[in-house]
Amino acid sequence: MPDNDVFHQRLTASLLQLESVHRRRMRRCVAVVSTTECIVDGQRCISFATNDYLGLTRHPDVVAAFADVAARQVGAGASALIAGRSPHHVRLEEAIAEFESTESALLFPSGFAANIGTLASLIGPQDAVFCDRENHASLIDGCRASAGKIFVYDRAELDRLSESIKSRCHDYDVVFIVTDTVFSMDGTLADLPQLCDIADRYSATIIVDEAHGTGVFGATGRGVCELQNVGDRISVKIGTLSKAIGGIGGFVAGSTTLCEWLWNKARSQFFSTALPPAVCAAAMVALQVITHESERRSLLAARAVLARQLLQEAELEVVTAPHDSPVIAVLLRDDDLAVRVSQLMMASRFFIPAVRPPSVPKGTSRLRMSLCCDHSEDQIRSAVYQLRDVVRSERR
Ligand SMILES: Cc1ncc(COP(=O)(O)O)c(C=O)c1O
Repeated sequence: MPDNDVFHQRLTASLLQLESVHRRRMRRCVAVVSTTECIVDGQRCISFATNDYLGLTRHPDVVAAFADVAARQVGAGASALIAGRSPHHVRLEEAIAEFESTESALLFPSGFAANIGTLASLIGPQDAVFCDRENHASLIDGCRASAGKIFVYDRAELDRLSESIKSRCHDYDVVFIVTDTVFSMDGTLADLPQLCDIADRYSATIIVDEAHGTGVFGATGRGVCELQNVGDRISVKIGTLSKAIGGIGGFVAGSTTLCEWLWNKARSQFFSTALPPAVCAAAMVALQVITHESERRSLLAARAVLARQLLQEAELEVVTAPHDSPVIAVLLRDDDLAVRVSQLMMASRFFIPAVRPPSVPKGTSRLRMSLCCDHSEDQIRSAVYQLRDVVRSERR
């Protein structure tokens, strides 16, 4: 490796700079043992680090559906546009549309690709997009990749958002409001009814990303749109198959016109190989499990309530979010402290990743604890007690 040329010297200097401010990320190897246990770089631990909220990555019916198709074929072999859209893809798109109560749905290679491709193509040069400050990187990058004028808003100040749209909406052809429904770094929810009211007032179009909402929130697991009863007020719903659905891939659900348009225009969709058919077969079954095994959702909510209650009793600072939200941010603020606490937790056999800038705003470094319905009460209790002791001794 030529590490003495200017190019590599620049990379090395940049990595050292990251290291000096405790922001260098190291690669780790994680061998999954079960939905709540894994081996991280040789160390067996209880994991609070995945987005497998309902344990569907290992659900026997989901695994069997995958294995059945994977026994005959691995890759799709082509983009969906050319020859990669198999009957499994067609059936899954139909199932997603039914699940989301929309006319149509369109698959993407990932949730990230769905966000980038949808925003970059939909938002044109005469349009404005209002983007929540804490949206996922893929939504932010999608706005940036579009030709539209970007305005960033703070969801704690929706009156200001409303004023801002009111004063600007006449300057643009279409105004978009883009938001996550569940903010992935702290488990808080968007106020969709209020955003819909603002959108109605100024004829704006709302685009939501339900990545962490699908399967988790709502009486039947349709996400925050269902929980907040706004499903039919949202024009563009983006989702991922990689979190509670337990697989990989992304989708957009909406009108037939929207999906046909994206099929023709969303570059991350048609310039990329289609999902493996086995992934589609697995996701089909996962959607059925979400519908028919509601006890997984109830259990997950109960575990989240317990974890938040214990963290509060332990006097740890937690970002306020709905008590049943399975993503919990334990604020440590200092980058170095967050990394140290995470490492010490790992040494005690608990995997709770540290999240630092640029993933979260400066001064809000945290441990991100995410729950699965398979976590036992004991696992949660022992993790919180250990976290309390580690934080106390590190702060002393
Ligand atoms: C809110 C949100 N949207 C989109 C994505 C991207 O989804 P995927 O992992 O399926 O590419 C993520 C992934 O972390 C996410 O947290």
